Amino acid sequence: MSDVVCYCFDVRKDRIVAAIENGCRSVEEVKNLLGVTGNCAGCQPDIEALLEFYGKYPAKS
Ligand code: FES
Repeated sequence: MSDVVCYCFDVRKDRIVAAIENGCRSVEEVKNLLGVTGNCAGCQPDIEALLEFYGKYPAKS
């Protein structure tokens, strides 16, 4: 759970999952919140995979 997904901004997987669980539903929304994909964008496929997996669960309202 503590793996770094975005090396440019040192963002770990648990923070991205938390963002998705709190309502982020697109790469753009996660980017706005955490900065991920804003530099080399090499982490974008991983963000998309996490969105696809965790986004299937209803967001907390
Ligand atoms: S690894 Fe995320 S922007 Fe470069």
